[in-house]
Amino acid sequence: MRVVSGIQPTGKPHLGNYLGAIVNYVKLQDEAHANGGQCFIFLADLHAISQPHDPAELTQNTREMVATLVACGVDPAKTVLFNQAQVPAHAELQWLLNGTARMGWLNRMTQWKDKAGKNREGQSVALFTYPVLQAADVLLYQATHVPVGEDQKQHLELARDIAQKFNNDFCAEDAPLFTLPEPYIPPAAARIMSLRDGTAKMSKSDPSEMSRISLTDDADTIMKKIKKAKTDAEPLPSEEKDLEPRAEARNLVGIYGALTGKSAQEVLDEHGGQGFGVFKPALGEVLVETLAPINARFLDLKDDQEALDAILARGAARAREQGLPTLDATYNAMGLVRG
Ligand code: TYM
Repeated sequence: MRVVSGIQPTGKPHLGNYLGAIVNYVKLQDEAHANGGQCFIFLADLHAISQPHDPAELTQNTREMVATLVACGVDPAKTVLFNQAQVPAHAELQWLLNGTARMGWLNRMTQWKDKAGKNREGQSVALFTYPVLQAADVLLYQATHVPVGEDQKQHLELARDIAQKFNNDFCAEDAPLFTLPEPYIPPAAARIMSLRDGTAKMSKSDPSEMSRISLTDDADTIMKKIKKAKTDAEPLPSEEKDLEPRAEARNLVGIYGALTGKSAQEVLDEHGGQGFGVFKPALGEVLVETLAPINARFLDLKDDQEALDAILARGAARAREQGLPTLDATYNAMGLVRG
């Protein structure tokens, strides 16, 4: 079992990142550690430069993201925790895979279409080729399990297509080079929605802070954001199917369930019939209970720049070593002479 996943160090990580991905980094890290597998979690700083960014902010966000991941339970003793910029093999393998990826495949990526909108000509080349770097990230370590939220599923399918085409084009049938990675998506929290609009994904790039719970929000802020979360005026139903047309209510019930390990129906068995004046404080309490210890650990870690940089440097050294055999094999399979 080889677990690989990445998170962009842009802005503060939020509840969607946590429930959609980080919880599973920790779960799969522990499984891999117990079974003699290996887990790689990295900060996708090379992906972060695909959009306009402030260099000083990127540096600070990178360190804060390490502190947050460790505060959430990613353990550098069990997981290879690093940032892409210290492992040149990611960018090298991307270049090699650019020869295999097709323009048409990238043109179909919904994230590219959403982010570029009508202004494709004005986007960076990096935003377009972003999914090839993502494929390199996972194929470099022969990932079997890739814990991600629903929004990354299409990028993972592309990684499989690239791997398959490369194996077909350059490898003997009985000796494929790349393992086809499987996305590992949580059933209940695959897509946590904005607190201001139940049809939009909770996102770091939403201009409204009220749209998301940051993992480093304190208890008062969490309570305030949940109380102000958009809802309709009806009480919660007692049957899950009646949540279907109520996007905001469905999202809050989903969050409650993901935090407590309950299905939406089990949450409604307990809270059905309650108005939001009762349900929201209950949800706020569960959130504070989950996030308070994370927040405390984050505050302890975040200013120790030396310790955070040491975690990344150690992780990067291990990642460089572990990625090398696949990188070498890729150059060889393509017939490139390297002395
Ligand atoms: P990023 O930084 O946008 O998000 C990190 C992880 O959080 C998940 N996520 C969500 N899950 C549920 N609900 C939401 N509202 C929500 N918002 C974000 C994302 O699915 C992701 O798992 N391209 C990736 C980073 C990346 C990567 C990789 C991931 C680079 N290389 C290789 C996996 C494997 C990204 O921008 O994630």
